Amino acid sequence: MNTYRSGPTTDRIEHRAFTLDDCEAFYRLNSHPEVMRFTGEPPLSSIEEARQAISNYPDFETVGYGRWACVLKDTGAVIGFCGLKYLPELDEVDVGFRFFPEYWGQGIATETSRACIDFGFDVLKLQRILGLVLSENTASIRVLEKTGMIRNGEVEYDGEYALKYQINRP
Ligand SMILES: CC(C)(COP(=O)(O)OP(=O)(O)OC[C@H]1O[C@@H](n2cnc3c(N)ncnc32)[C@H](O)[C@@H]1OP(=O)(O)O)[C@@H](O)C(=O)NCCC(=O)NCCS
Repeated sequence: MNTYRSGPTTDRIEHRAFTLDDCEAFYRLNSHPEVMRFTGEPPLSSIEEARQAISNYPDFETVGYGRWACVLKDTGAVIGFCGLKYLPELDEVDVGFRFFPEYWGQGIATETSRACIDFGFDVLKLQRILGLVLSENTASIRVLEKTGMIRNGEVEYDGEYALKYQINRP
């Protein structure tokens, strides 16, 4: 199994695994009420939780890829995450993304999710990739649509019903 601790590079963004140097940014992102609003996940409540989450993130070791930190090339700042996650309960892979609000509305999620989907097909040779989103999350739905994903029913995930979007290997 190959391990991809670095993901795709786009015009504006580099993708790489989070490290413990990112604890503060990871905590700010994953405790921000606006960011977490439609994610279905509880916000982090301390930097220590962020440290644990980064330290105990198994995906690169178990499946070789995961959610990557998104680093803005211009400044070197971690501005969010985007990446592919294997979901054992569904035996599927989904694309997921989350950014600080000051970077919303600039096409960044569309740019990174397209690149991650291409990586999934070209490098990982996946057959299909899902996008799971709460129906209220209109911005996220728009991003999934802009990547070419098509809605295909609903799925119960983490105790909530999410809309299921899907794109097949070209
Ligand atoms: C969802 C999110 C990643 C989008 O990031 P982004 O970089 O702003 O996305 P983009 O700029 O690439 O595209 C956003 C699209 O949604 C549209 N949009 C934004 N807010 C919207 C709203 N409230 N209603 C409808 N459309 C909206 C934008 O107009 C744009 O579409 P357009 O290009 O056709 O105009 C960002 O809002 C975020 O981090 N949200 C919090 C975390 C989250 O919910 N993640 C997804 C969990 S499934």
